[in-house]
Amino acid sequence: MGTATDPAAAETPVDLAEPGFWQRPADERAAAFAALRSLPGPVFFGERTPKGPGRGFHALVRHADVVEAARTPAVFLSGPGVTTPEPARWVRMLFGDSMVNLDDPRHAQLRRIVSRAFTPRLIARAEDDIRQVAARLVDRVEHERPEDFVTSVAAELPFQVICNMMGIPEEPRRAILDQVNHASEHTGVARPLRRRLRVPGRGLMALARMQGMVAELGRERRRRPTDDLISALVTADVDGRRLTGRELGAFFSLLLVAGVETTRNALAHGLHLLTANPEQRALLLGDLDRHLGGTVDEIIRHATPIIQFRRTLAVDHRLGGPDGTLLRAGEKVVLFFGSANRDETVFADPDAFDISRGSNPHLGFGGGGPHYCLGAYLARQEMKALYRELFTRLPGIRSVGEPELIPSNFDNRVRSLRFTF
Ligand code: HEM
Repeated sequence: MGTATDPAAAETPVDLAEPGFWQRPADERAAAFAALRSLPGPVFFGERTPKGPGRGFHALVRHADVVEAARTPAVFLSGPGVTTPEPARWVRMLFGDSMVNLDDPRHAQLRRIVSRAFTPRLIARAEDDIRQVAARLVDRVEHERPEDFVTSVAAELPFQVICNMMGIPEEPRRAILDQVNHASEHTGVARPLRRRLRVPGRGLMALARMQGMVAELGRERRRRPTDDLISALVTADVDGRRLTGRELGAFFSLLLVAGVETTRNALAHGLHLLTANPEQRALLLGDLDRHLGGTVDEIIRHATPIIQFRRTLAVDHRLGGPDGTLLRAGEKVVLFFGSANRDETVFADPDAFDISRGSNPHLGFGGGGPHYCLGAYLARQEMKALYRELFTRLPGIRSVGEPELIPSNFDNRVRSLRFTF
């Protein structure tokens, strides 16, 4: 049960730290977050670890609070780790640090290197590729008539696009995709404890194999550069630095987990939202050019593929100004992007799926600041390309029944979604 850090705030009957909360129906969770947003300040939730009481966190559930934390990186650190549980020290030593878990100056230095791989020139080239991958997937849907949208379409598109950008040869791709699925399985909260405890071991082995393979590709490209992303990363010289083999492996893993899972879930939620809201679907199909951009952003707002990231206070800080809630150095906050995206002070009728919102300052790609999603533009291009291809060639496409969701406090994951056209 939560206790408000602001003494005026009432006790709240929900416990965001309890795995059971994340298995409740979506509307119950949304109502709980709406109640939390209406309190005068953030609520503190105590946590338990397998070894005993954990440190707990202040839940940032309002749009303004999430933005403040994301855009004040000198106070709200990413360094100790932004996920739950935090990556163990030995894991970070063995696999290298992922940039999401770094602060300046290391974060800025790494981000400058990898941003060079996301230049308009490389992204423009990726756009042709995205269109071709999307067209091939729709060909396959027409011929093979698969039942599950997630495995046949939504997961394939972002995965093939990233592999093409990185220059990963065809042959190991299937094994890598299986490994990605293993490596990220532990984020679910629904499976029995015994299974949850076993998964990270399997996932780490998968990660180790994948990173070893990518590091080897990096060494090869350093000797004989081509015009792919791996070559750009291992030969780019920014501030006298380029990526080491280990950093390259860590970055590729981040791209796979951050770029594939998220886009796949957004694509699947999107098809279902457009099926469940026929008037919005009619609006979109009536003028694809006009509404595609707004549709993609509304899907990301409504579905919020990444539910939460953490930060740790570097110093004491009053949230929201001099009269705000006092957060102490060393304490944790959790940025609940999904709750910020339903903040009624920012979005009119926030639970409605409305592709024609004039302005849509959602926080689905983060609250701004130095960690803002590196792939936001790429993800939008992928989603627009796929929906354009699908709705132009298969205008009758729609989901069937409800999506099968994997309860998680980290990502809004869809395991499967049946569809027809
Ligand atoms: C719909 C799809 C996507 C969503 C919803 C999403 C969401 C996010 C969010 C919420 C963050 C954290 C922002 C913060 O802490 O302030 C993030 C970071 C990141 N994302 Fe994405 N993402 C998506 C697609 C992608 C793609 C396609 C890529 C790359 C191919 C990508 C690469 C990254 C990277 C590298 C970071 C870490 C940036 C840093 O720490 O500096 N993402 N993303």
